[in-house]
Amino acid sequence: MSLATIFADRQMVVGKIEPAIFGSFVEHLGRCVYTGIFEPTHPEADSDGFRTDTLELVKGLNVPIVRYPGGNFVSGYNWRDGIGPRENRPARLDLAWSTTETNQFGVDEFMKWCKKAGTDPMMAVNLGTGTPQEAGSLVEYCNYPGGSELSDLRKANGSELPYGIKTWCLGNEMDGPWQICGMSAEGYADKALAAAKMMHWVDPSIKLVACGSSGREMPTFPEWDRIVLDKLYEQADYISMHRYYWQDGSEEDFFASSHDMNEFIQTIKAVADYVRAKHRSSKIMSISFDEWNVWYQNKQGEAHWAQAPRILEDRYSLKDALVFSGMLNTLVNNCDRVKIACLAQLVNVIAPIFTEPGGAAIKQSIYYPFQLLSSHGNGVALSHITKCDTFSSRHGEVKILSSSIGYNEADKELSLYLVNYSASKVELSLELRGFGDLSATECLVLEGNLDDANTFERPDLVKPKEGEKPATKGEHAVAALSPLSYTVLRFKHE
Ligand code: AHR
Repeated sequence: MSLATIFADRQMVVGKIEPAIFGSFVEHLGRCVYTGIFEPTHPEADSDGFRTDTLELVKGLNVPIVRYPGGNFVSGYNWRDGIGPRENRPARLDLAWSTTETNQFGVDEFMKWCKKAGTDPMMAVNLGTGTPQEAGSLVEYCNYPGGSELSDLRKANGSELPYGIKTWCLGNEMDGPWQICGMSAEGYADKALAAAKMMHWVDPSIKLVACGSSGREMPTFPEWDRIVLDKLYEQADYISMHRYYWQDGSEEDFFASSHDMNEFIQTIKAVADYVRAKHRSSKIMSISFDEWNVWYQNKQGEAHWAQAPRILEDRYSLKDALVFSGMLNTLVNNCDRVKIACLAQLVNVIAPIFTEPGGAAIKQSIYYPFQLLSSHGNGVALSHITKCDTFSSRHGEVKILSSSIGYNEADKELSLYLVNYSASKVELSLELRGFGDLSATECLVLEGNLDDANTFERPDLVKPKEGEKPATKGEHAVAALSPLSYTVLRFKHE
């Protein structure tokens, strides 16, 4: 057993936790759309062909915003292929994932689905094969009230009212050589600026996300971000970040992922603040961490131009959920800058929800840490000091505990999200100043064998169980954290 302490103070606020940091992502990739959220022949499909079993799980996850339609897919996508009568929509080769896209699901279906799922759209425009004009045209189709060719076409396609989509991504990972028509930072910045202007001319109220480096390991990082922000500082509201981790070394290295993710965020903040200083601007650039997850990129499967093939269908273990929970903590602990984050993705493709065509839908291990945070995350994050043992990793010396603290003043509720990466039990002493008398209301624990993963046969193998609530005395509490576990503690104050 080891000892640890966490000290927090009600006044030490990092920032408001924007609900949009609990966003997710639906890409036309594998079975995310087809047989994931949309499967007209499924016994539980509704009249629009949406799987209601998936919809229920999505609602339970509390996802306020969903990015669409890609991802790499968007860089070769013509949004016009996916509108109008279904029988006229073309089947096309998707060069991003070597699949055949039937276009039976497009912008209008996505907007209908968002309404049913109780979520807002975050629309990405094609800045690969697409043009700035087409980006502006998509804004016109979606957001212009009526009286122009494209807005009237939307009405003819069944949506009288404009969609009013607020958040738009200016392309996807345009620094990547894998990206359809990927380009240099200067080339992207020019194209994105032209697109941003046209999109804003159609609807000045929209918020724009500029493509940042698609990873910290990219040779163009962080110059890419500097050049892009330099050009787009006034037009863009967010710079995007993407990061995936998987175990390709020791367990310790994998457990240190969230530490590395934090370093990545600090560097992007520094680049953005440098550009801000250069521009003498009062605006602080927000971060949209619009792709993050555990992703075993060595196990992605072959598509062979099939329709909705089984690719990127990672099955998540308890170990993955522990790393995932650390990443969630890192996002919350940086909520003063990270204002949007999208768990990539939502269904089947590296996702918390897994479905069988014609069959059931289950929750993967990572579903639970996300839900436990998103369902109580509407407050502020508290900065805190953790004293505990450390372990060595390729990312340096890392604490065995990952933590974030959310405080909701209206509900008088304080929640601690704690990952114990050590194989020993930790006795945790909490000093939570400024809250008066605390009482523990909940303790939920995710633990078990590290390789345990939910399956259709055993869908509840990895699931939070009630643990022992910590003993409290005034502003102090003592909790026991199981080895290799995720624990959520909730307290109320007077
Ligand atoms: O989420 C899977 C893929 O990862 C996305 O299409 C791409 O943007 C990223 O490389």
